Amino acid sequence: MNIRRAEPKDLTNIQQCNLQNLPENYHMRFWAYSAITWPEVSFLAEDSGGRVVGYVLSSIEPDEEFPWLQVGHINSLSVLRTYRRLGLAKRLMLLSRKAMIESHDVEYIQLHVRKSNRAAFSLYSEKLGFQIHRKEIGYYGDGEDAYSMRFILKQRSLVHRLGRRVHGFVYGRQRAFANWTLRCSKRVNQIK
Ligand SMILES: CC(C)(COP(=O)(O)OP(=O)(O)OC[C@H]1O[C@@H](n2cnc3c(N)ncnc32)[C@H](O)[C@@H]1OP(=O)(O)O)[C@@H](O)C(=O)NCCC(=O)NCCS
Repeated sequence: MNIRRAEPKDLTNIQQCNLQNLPENYHMRFWAYSAITWPEVSFLAEDSGGRVVGYVLSSIEPDEEFPWLQVGHINSLSVLRTYRRLGLAKRLMLLSRKAMIESHDVEYIQLHVRKSNRAAFSLYSEKLGFQIHRKEIGYYGDGEDAYSMRFILKQRSLVHRLGRRVHGFVYGRQRAFANWTLRCSKRVNQIK
């Protein structure tokens, strides 16, 4: 078994693996965009014949609340049925986590998991230290709820968190003011 970084040339094989394992299938554009934009954080496992038997596809996104902070996202993880319970998913996740820390200094890592997916939930919570952040009702296409889970890398002090909130508020006001001035200048131009 060979575990290595995923490259754009692997995308078709990764997509094949995804189609066999998960109902959440992405358009090739999405795979290509991720592989080109964040090439260092996605990994795959291949057998001796070069067939992809497992992968983790990750990305780096801005934090919802504080967009100047970087967050790691696990977009898709799966391992072919005959290769499960060999520790592959755990190894892929740990490699991606290490790469996210080294290359992007992320604040935390985030993912979604179906409420009914016991195998994945147990991997994330028991083996990898993820915690439930919130439940998202009807998150999946078929209406199933998701747990949004996070692995926190930087435990911030209360003062720091308060500072971030103040910073977030000021940043929000600045953006609102900038949008308002833009709207005003458009109106002035229309009147002219
Ligand atoms: C979830 C999945 C990726 C796990 O892959 P894997 O390579 O078998 O996982 P690992 O061998 O690294 O397992 C590590 C731990 O996860 C947990 N785990 C894995 N499969 C499990 C199962 N079927 N039941 C309960 N716990 C399970 C166990 O804690 C396991 O540790 P252990 O073997 O020491 O008990 C795999 O089952 C899969 O591809 N499922 C379908 C796709 C999917 O659900 N992806 C996740 C979407 S959020």
